[in-house]
Amino acid sequence: MVNIYHEKDGNISEIKEKTVAIIGYGNQGRAQALNLRDSGINVIVGNREDEYRQFAKDDGFSTYSIADAVNKADIIFILIPDEILDEVFEESIRPYLSEGNAIVFASGYNVGFELIDLPDNIDVLLLAPRMIGVGVREKFLDGEGFFSFIAIEQDATGHAKNVLLALAKGIGTLRKGAVELTFKQEAELDLFNEQGFGPAFGRVLLTAIYTLLDAGYPPEAVLIEMYMSGEMSYTYQAMAKVGLVKQVNFHSQTSQYGSMSRGIRFRKLPLRPKMEEILEEIQNGEFTKEWEKTLTKLKFKIIKFFATKQKINRIENEVRDNLGLKTYDIYEQEPPTNRDMEELKEVSEELKEFEKYYQ
Ligand SMILES: NC(=O)c1ccc[n+]([C@@H]2O[C@H](COP(=O)([O-])OP(=O)(O)OC[C@H]3O[C@@H](n4cnc5c(N)ncnc54)[C@H](OP(=O)(O)O)[C@@H]3O)[C@@H](O)[C@H]2O)c1
Repeated sequence: MVNIYHEKDGNISEIKEKTVAIIGYGNQGRAQALNLRDSGINVIVGNREDEYRQFAKDDGFSTYSIADAVNKADIIFILIPDEILDEVFEESIRPYLSEGNAIVFASGYNVGFELIDLPDNIDVLLLAPRMIGVGVREKFLDGEGFFSFIAIEQDATGHAKNVLLALAKGIGTLRKGAVELTFKQEAELDLFNEQGFGPAFGRVLLTAIYTLLDAGYPPEAVLIEMYMSGEMSYTYQAMAKVGLVKQVNFHSQTSQYGSMSRGIRFRKLPLRPKMEEILEEIQNGEFTKEWEKTLTKLKFKIIKFFATKQKINRIENEVRDNLGLKTYDIYEQEPPTNRDMEELKEVSEELKEFEKYYQ
């Protein structure tokens, strides 16, 4: 069975004399910095000189440039977006690391897919909360904790495990449980959730919405029924609390009979082969290779533009307006220029498919 660690497994005195630098004061950075400090750990923050650095100052942290923070610290949390992490690591982190340091990632992506070049005289750790930053802070304060995936890629000091478990205790995850994986497994699971489950779920949701709209139900009622009430999030919480099937008991007998008896009609949805194909592309590195290409960034810009033009966006904004809810500008994505289209000539057929798909 996989190793799962709890409160008794972590000892904060292992890192009492150490300085922890949090690099990046965003979603995870702020939450983890505050939790570690509240756990009695000496924390400093490294960020570019801008509003995020100011947030850290306002929270009472000593702040530095990224390079200076790395220089001053023994343990370095790298909590910046994964897409730019390799560049920032090469320029502002790697040159300032010392032998025996530990670096800690919150995502397995860059290490798991070998996108960064790691010095071999440091510990390389993963402490990846399965929780958004705000939740990491809230669930620390209320004492409940949250799950994380943890991993050790490199143990240069011989103490990597003790350090990792002390940090895990410090951010509050051991109260719930930290599950040991590899960096690559963490990254693959995360990508699969985003690429295999997310879009399939989105397709099912949209199909249900358009079925009801085409049948003449008022859009306000349809969107409230399908997701805008927020009821679905309670169902998800119930699944986590009591179990995937057991949670049906929170619904009426009519609801239970209806969903169980009709469920069988969807058994032949051809989801599995598509999901297996997506997982394989993730595992064999094909997705990462594709995402690293400059052309893909441009292709993404165009696909996102098509996605913002989907009919549901307009319907949703009208509904939100009618219901007195705040509306958001979803058309902020710039339309493609002629130059973009020229550069994307070799994938123009593929882009036409995306345009059609999002109509
Ligand atoms: N978001 C989540 O809920 C979540 C959950 C689990 C794990 N993670 C992982 O946690 C890590 C951090 O994610 P996040 O969502 O917390 O990131 P985020 O909020 O988007 O990160 C913002 C921080 O990154 C800094 N930053 C952005 N671009 C930068 C650049 N080019 N150079 C230097 N600093 C830069 C920002 O500072 P400036 O722009 O001021 O420089 C800011 O401090 C990632 O590995 C992510 O996969 C995130």
